[in-house]
Amino acid sequence: MTQNIYDNEAFFAGYSRLPRSIEGLEGMPEWPALRALLPAMAQLRVVDLGCGFGWFCRWAAAEGAARILGLDVSERMLARARVETAPGAVTYRRADLEQLDLPAASFDLAYSALALHYIEDLEGLLAAVHRALVPGGRLVFSVEHPIYTAPRRPGWVESAGGGPGDGKVWPVDAYLDEGPRRTDWLAKGVIKQHRTIATYLNLLIRLGFALTHLEEWGPTAAQIALHPHFAVERERPPFLLVAAVR
Ligand SMILES: C[S@@+](CC[C@H](N)C(=O)[O-])C[C@H]1O[C@@H](n2cnc3c(N)ncnc32)[C@H](O)[C@@H]1O
Repeated sequence: MTQNIYDNEAFFAGYSRLPRSIEGLEGMPEWPALRALLPAMAQLRVVDLGCGFGWFCRWAAAEGAARILGLDVSERMLARARVETAPGAVTYRRADLEQLDLPAASFDLAYSALALHYIEDLEGLLAAVHRALVPGGRLVFSVEHPIYTAPRRPGWVESAGGGPGDGKVWPVDAYLDEGPRRTDWLAKGVIKQHRTIATYLNLLIRLGFALTHLEEWGPTAAQIALHPHFAVERERPPFLLVAAVR
């Protein structure tokens, strides 16, 4: 069953204070690397899986995408997304990615930023995405890097900052044991799904995707010069970025 932690009042308040929630794509240090994996947006039909506040949906609209469907299970996230998006190419819909149903061959690009590590039935979701893409359609996503999801065990307290800049390096814990990991990040008992890099990649391969890029993202020297507290993120990569073609 979907936890929908972003509708938890305390979690939502904490998440809303993160730099990426205030500055949007400019507050995501991995955005330049993720953007580099995206095709030109002009006339594309795009679905954003776990669209949150809709930062990417608005960017895709500004870049000329024909239509963008932003999906999220959180009413709170969608409410802010709707308020901040001018009428036009973007549509938001409440949907649980654990039971995604999209028309066949109806999208040119499926995008997802930091949402898929919440999904238990990732195979079901990626199979639905594969069906929903046209042949040659692209899938581009980021997830928390498995090294980053591995240390979470009951009782582990993560810093409220999370992500780049929290100043902590955690030990990897039972890397090969996949499944839900409970963490106390912004609220107690947040569930994220830990899976290995091999599981992510083999899932895509088995479903018929062709991998085009894999990146274990870390900050560049230029980013560290601007934000010295990012340096710790070169100890272990916080994000895995993946691009694939149907
Ligand atoms: C870290 S936020 C990222 C939001 C957005 N992609 C961004 O980069 O700003 C993760 C998002 O995934 C959504 N999410 C988590 N589990 C979900 C599910 N089962 N179905 C739909 N959305 C989900 C959350 O509600 C949240 O908005």
